[in-house]
Amino acid sequence: MRVVCLISGDGSNLQALIDWQIKGLLGDAEIVGVVSNKAQAFGLERAKRANIATTVLSHERYPDRCQFDRALISVIDNYEADLIVLAGFMRILTAQFVNHYANRLVNVHPSLLPKYKGLNTHRRAIEAGDSASGATVHWVTEELDSGGIIRQAEVPIYAHDSEESLRQRVLEAEHSLYPAVIRDLSLGVVAC
Ligand code: GRF
Repeated sequence: MRVVCLISGDGSNLQALIDWQIKGLLGDAEIVGVVSNKAQAFGLERAKRANIATTVLSHERYPDRCQFDRALISVIDNYEADLIVLAGFMRILTAQFVNHYANRLVNVHPSLLPKYKGLNTHRRAIEAGDSASGATVHWVTEELDSGGIIRQAEVPIYAHDSEESLRQRVLEAEHSLYPAVIRDLSLGVVAC
């Protein structure tokens, strides 16, 4: 299963996937390319260190979302990707893009969906007085953070938690949740 990861930033989830791949734990999945819309994304460095091909496609060079997404499709399809893994990719994707990759596009979101779609998930969970939060890996559909849930990991919220401490705890949970889901998808344990 040829995997292309889309990133915009630090790429700690990408690193977790790379680590699993290096240890031979990623099943039949292989990360064949990493695409970033930001030239400065540290995740690009992580990919290069692991000898994984990278492409930078800056959205600022395109007049609108549609044309950017069309270029992005062309880059991804050049990698002959079977699965597209959003790993901190901070762009809202067009229906055209999402439909092109129907059932081949997954995302990790830092909340227990359907709670807290969108941004500031940790602040909202703390403000709501929730006793737990977590991460969700889900299929990507046209509606933001609303596709079918594949798997979730739960973490506690403590009384002394700040947005940052909760963010760290959830991120750590993502780092084992996401690679395990990609492995299982590649092995057919989870239906595509
Ligand atoms: C994570 O919080 C993830 O849930 C969200 O974007 C962030 C990516 O972090 N979709 P990183 O770039 O993988 O460190």
